[in-house]
Amino acid sequence: MKTVLITGGNSGIGKATAEALAAQGFRVFIAARDLEKSERAIADIAAAVPGAQIAALKLDLSDLDQVKSFAEDFRRRVPVLDVLILNAGLFPTNKQLTAQGFEMQFGVNHLGHFLLTKLLLDSVKAAPQGRIVVVSSIMHWLGRINYGSFRGEKFYNPVVAYGQSKLANLLFAQELSRRLEGTGISVNALHPGGVDTGIARDLPKIAQKIYSALTISVEKGAASSIFLAAAPEAAQLHGEFVTSSKPAWHSPLAKPASAQKLWQVSEELVAGY
Ligand SMILES: NC(=O)c1ccc[n+]([C@@H]2O[C@H](COP(=O)([O-])OP(=O)(O)OC[C@H]3O[C@@H](n4cnc5c(N)ncnc54)[C@H](OP(=O)(O)O)[C@@H]3O)[C@@H](O)[C@H]2O)c1
Repeated sequence: MKTVLITGGNSGIGKATAEALAAQGFRVFIAARDLEKSERAIADIAAAVPGAQIAALKLDLSDLDQVKSFAEDFRRRVPVLDVLILNAGLFPTNKQLTAQGFEMQFGVNHLGHFLLTKLLLDSVKAAPQGRIVVVSSIMHWLGRINYGSFRGEKFYNPVVAYGQSKLANLLFAQELSRRLEGTGISVNALHPGGVDTGIARDLPKIAQKIYSALTISVEKGAASSIFLAAAPEAAQLHGEFVTSSKPAWHSPLAKPASAQKLWQVSEELVAGY
């Protein structure tokens, strides 16, 4: 039985991904902040997929201390991890900081996942054909990596911060794929589509209604994550940005030199963990 860990697996795209992979026979771990919400998600999935092997774990990606202790516990419990899906994400409209003082979107969407992956990499390497799936977004096209903004120093614009964090997801996947070349592990990023989830919960009600009307269902939105996690043919893809389960164009800013620079800086930011 293959094992998958899905961050943010208790709602939206992550929950739909968890359900589909449980139905395919994966042992599924969902990791998010709100354990009660996760237990409700598990109950829904168990009702839809009788016999589902699924468990909830508490993880707050906005606190690097918690990421470290989560990873240490998880490694002990699950020494072989076939698939790691970096799906959790948020889009707060007001400026917030993580426990270590990073701007929240950069801190959770990118840096928490960066540290988590670093600490779980040996478990993925122990799998016969590991896969790492990074949920980025088409919004990365709006992103720039502004090295002076990581601690929220600049005027906060939520869309700019989201674009930066999603470009960081893509650059991370590119550099990780380069570093894992020849290991048999596949690493890819994806855009799920515009999906009707709670991600826009901080927007005004009218904007949420418009968003909801224009977006696709979570089941459709989970398709590329499920494809990259489980489809046999996806094992051939590596270092790609995927939409609709196919390699797609990405921003010209996603260049190897930029990916290497962000990696080095991220290493420095999580040094000591
Ligand atoms: N919806 C779209 O149209 C769309 C488009 C492109 C990309 N995406 C990406 O898709 C991914 C999933 O988003 P979604 O749309 O499914 O939104 P969602 O329903 O709001 O789900 C977000 C998930 O992230 C978890 N999360 C948030 N902050 C966290 C933290 N600090 N630590 C751990 N987990 C945390 C949440 O669980 P807890 O609250 O329990 O922590 C939740 O499970 C995100 O990366 C998002 O950027 C979404």
